[in-house]
Amino acid sequence: MALIALPALAAEPAAEQRLRHLLDHDCGSCHGMTRKGGLGLPLTAEALVGRSDDDLAYLILNGVPGTPMPPWAPLLTAGEVDWIIRELRGRP
Ligand code: HEC
Repeated sequence: MALIALPALAAEPAAEQRLRHLLDHDCGSCHGMTRKGGLGLPLTAEALVGRSDDDLAYLILNGVPGTPMPPWAPLLTAGEVDWIIRELRGRP
């Protein structure tokens, strides 16, 4: 019953919380808490339609030279960036 759902919910909770916090606060400081854009471009699911996961992962890991978008490779693994991209696509 309710207990059956727990193992799924508990999958890497600390890692996910860290990523969600980073997404809301670090990415959010430029892209907006609701990701509708600010200093950075909007990162809503609609805004990312037509962009490939590979392109987005490349931009996130390497940043965009000549703009305030920093490279995240020192802080995030490729797997964490994949999680972030899934999160961006899954929420409005
Ligand atoms: C210091 C401000 C800043 C922070 C922090 C920041 N970004 Fe950005 N980001 C930008 C700017 C500015 C651009 C637009 C660059 C350009 O002109 O192409 C950008 C572009 C992007 C793009 C490409 C969007 C597109 O449509 O081409 C993605 C994806 C992105 N950021 C994701 C992230 C993620 C994920 C994080 C957090 C891990 C993050 N950004 C943190 C400023 C920031």
